[in-house]
Amino acid sequence: MTSATATALGGADVEDRELDSFDLTDPMTYQTTDVHAMWRRFRTERPVHRHPATAAGPEFWVLSKYDDIMKLYKDDGNFTSERGNVLVTLLHGSDSAAGKMLAVTDGPRHAAIRKLMLKSFSPRSLQHISEQVVQRTRTLLKDAVERGEADFARDVAEHIPIATICDLLGVPEADRGFLLGLNKQALSSSTADTSAEDSWLARNEILLYFGELAEERRRNPVDDVISVLATGRIDGEPLGEDEIVLNCYSLILGGDETSRLSMIGGVQALMRHPEQWNALKQGEATVESAVEEVVRWTTPGMHFGRRALRDVEVAGQRIAAGDIVTLWNTSANRDEDIFDAPETFDLARTPNKHVSFGYGPHFCLGAFLGRVEINAMLDAVRTVVDRIEPNGPVEPVFSNFLSGLESLPVRFEADREGLARWS
Ligand code: HEM
Repeated sequence: MTSATATALGGADVEDRELDSFDLTDPMTYQTTDVHAMWRRFRTERPVHRHPATAAGPEFWVLSKYDDIMKLYKDDGNFTSERGNVLVTLLHGSDSAAGKMLAVTDGPRHAAIRKLMLKSFSPRSLQHISEQVVQRTRTLLKDAVERGEADFARDVAEHIPIATICDLLGVPEADRGFLLGLNKQALSSSTADTSAEDSWLARNEILLYFGELAEERRRNPVDDVISVLATGRIDGEPLGEDEIVLNCYSLILGGDETSRLSMIGGVQALMRHPEQWNALKQGEATVESAVEEVVRWTTPGMHFGRRALRDVEVAGQRIAAGDIVTLWNTSANRDEDIFDAPETFDLARTPNKHVSFGYGPHFCLGAFLGRVEINAMLDAVRTVVDRIEPNGPVEPVFSNFLSGLESLPVRFEADREGLARWS
């Protein structure tokens, strides 16, 4: 089913349903519901919602208003990430990487590992990587445009973030095919041809691989993230082996699908809003502001979450110690109290204080890099494409966490002048 059909099917009954009947743990909900209509109702009728227990796990809180979500992202005194930061781990009750991997570590240890890693994420350190992103994006897009049609997701967008993360980590060219194969297996536990055990094994293989690479970099450090982690010290002590490998892996987990889904969703939005495509093409909207709007519009990570460390009040509701609280970025990014005409895709939108990259101590470490990738894509598309249109059914991601498309067949008409400028 295409997302357009799903929206049409789901839109009609959203207004008549009990809010308790929306099962936010079920990936199917996002395929069959007009989610933006649903979130409008939550924001208006029940901004702090107690989600009933489901087959996936116990009850949890659902925040849908921008201000409440921002407050919670900031409040690492009352809320922890160490018992999971997305529904699947929060409902399970724990995250096996807690206390070691940045996103699921709190307090001083989190701050120290983050400070160490930030060295590799400053715009200056990323200059070379950013140039490679631009080159890679141009090559992939040029090939696709010259062919006249492509699956924009599989032929173009899929290849950019993962290759960029390999550049950042310093994974040698010769190992990339092997690593990418493992990563696909690790992520596809729900597909017919990969069992849950296969994907568990693949994840372990990836961690073993990073362990060996870290060992090599400890002996011969170079200018990459693995070397920073392998040679870094906190209070005079080296990082643990598992801290090193898990934080390498976390870049793949955090930076691959999010950036990819934003690029794909951005191109789909441009096809659906021809006036915005013209604004981008004619330079009436800058690529920089277009990037922010694409990231707001697509919100690839629909939610994040925390667990309360003590009894605390949120927007007048008492949350008990141990309760799970989920923060719905998808809803915050369309909050009518914050954004003018939030349902309008407006590439020149300003201000645009979306929460797609989170906020507070865990604010996305890769935000600059994610923006570089989306910027490179939008700039490349507006340069070498004259017209872009849908060319077959799309395939949505099946998840209660990620939102976007796995497949987006498109047909291009080339901008010959733009192409000539690159040759
Ligand atoms: C954290 C979104 C790209 C690495 C986060 C968080 C969000 C987010 C919302 C906060 C999670 C929380 O509060 O629990 C996004 C989006 C991206 C993107 C929407 C692209 C459009 C990237 C990239 C990388 C990356 C390219 C790395 C190469 C990370 C890491 C963290 C993180 C390591 C954990 C930071 C911490 O806990 O201190 N991301 N991300 N992300 N992201 Fe991203």
